[in-house]
Amino acid sequence: MAKLLIEGGNRLRGEVTVQGSKNSTLPILAATVVAEDESVIHNCPHLSDVDTAVKILRFLGCSATRCGTSLVVDTKSITCDHIPDSLMREMRSSIIFLGAILARCKKARLTFPGGCELGARPIDLHLDAFRRMGVTIREHHGDIICFADKGLRGANIALAFPSVGATENIIIAAVKAKGTTVITNAAREPEIEDLCTYLNACGADIRGAGEGTIVIEGVDSLHGTSHTVIPDRIVAATLMSAAAVTGSDIVLKGVVASHLGAVIPLFEEAGCDIQLSSGAMSISAPQRLKAFPMIRTTPYPGFPTDAQAPLMAVSTLAQGTTVFVENIFENRYKHAGELTRLGAKVKTEGRVAVVEGVRELYSSSLQAYDLRGSASLAVAALAAQGVTVIDTTKYLERGYEDFDGTMRSLGADVKMI
Ligand code: UD1
Repeated sequence: MAKLLIEGGNRLRGEVTVQGSKNSTLPILAATVVAEDESVIHNCPHLSDVDTAVKILRFLGCSATRCGTSLVVDTKSITCDHIPDSLMREMRSSIIFLGAILARCKKARLTFPGGCELGARPIDLHLDAFRRMGVTIREHHGDIICFADKGLRGANIALAFPSVGATENIIIAAVKAKGTTVITNAAREPEIEDLCTYLNACGADIRGAGEGTIVIEGVDSLHGTSHTVIPDRIVAATLMSAAAVTGSDIVLKGVVASHLGAVIPLFEEAGCDIQLSSGAMSISAPQRLKAFPMIRTTPYPGFPTDAQAPLMAVSTLAQGTTVFVENIFENRYKHAGELTRLGAKVKTEGRVAVVEGVRELYSSSLQAYDLRGSASLAVAALAAQGVTVIDTTKYLERGYEDFDGTMRSLGADVKMI
């Protein structure tokens, strides 16, 4: 397996364009199945999770062709209503195809999804919502077998937690259901809005995307469209972290600043100068940062759980103590133990992590355990003395397009071996 080699200490300089959002691309690719037509999705990042979504589409009998960062997806024909376990296990988002297949075929068979191990990650909210929409669900030897012989019907669905994946799955299932679906306590993430923008352009009738209540009037048919995926706010936060930890000045192009509303003020409080102009952000970091104010992860518009790990890397070298409270996933501090191998002072207990900033980090050999955790280790290694080797690639490639190339273009000494 390939490894990342990072010689720390270089200051970063220059401009990069932030890739398209992984967490938007995946549900939109699933939603193409209900459009039953050709859609062209632009700004799809080259990631292994996106490759998995393409494999699922092809397994279902659809065609998907890549041309640069655009994917031409034709879902007029679909020959299959199940997803094999091998593809389900490759990523969590494979479950978002359930709503799409049910809407299209009135039945579906798949297994429990894989993805990063961040805790239990159940799918009860997805399945409960489908039951309310008229789906009968049986579990048999690990298979989830779903039938909606009379088709899906609209329903009032109150989510116990504003789950991103459940909200997406319900929206995709509801756009062609009979009647009205109302989701209360819906997730408000920008990726939900992006999915709804795509579906509405296909002829769906969705109101309230980005708000806590989403109303979907079922329509008889949809058509294809072309759509450009929003920039990836978590990749942007990771690049900001890379600049901050190395005391650097960089410019990020293709950023939607409002999507980073809970992130930008933290960097400013830590001493970074951030300037925004249309679609671009410059970040200029001091030699040594101050500790961040307390960081609590919460659903959007709060601080994103996916940015917790990269910011923790930054906090290891800041002056003072940063306290993190992880409220979304119960097991999302696996990077903390690896950061201590670089000399960081991190203590975790349950959902809380306390990071006491040190003056310097030194290189080590590290193991990544999940996607954002691997980004955290890479960010810390950029500032550590010596060469750090990170066994990470399988995770990093799931969410960061050409991570080493991007970092090299900014002047970092990063190699993939
Ligand atoms: C999505 C993102 C992921 C991000 C997360 C939270 C994608 C591809 N992934 O994941 O990067 O970290 O949102 O912002 O978009 N839960 C249940 N039952 C369910 C579903 C969820 O209890 O049926 C719980 C989860 O265990 C977790 C919380 O709800 O504790 C949030 O999960 P959810 O918002 O669903 O995350 P994902 O959609 O899996």
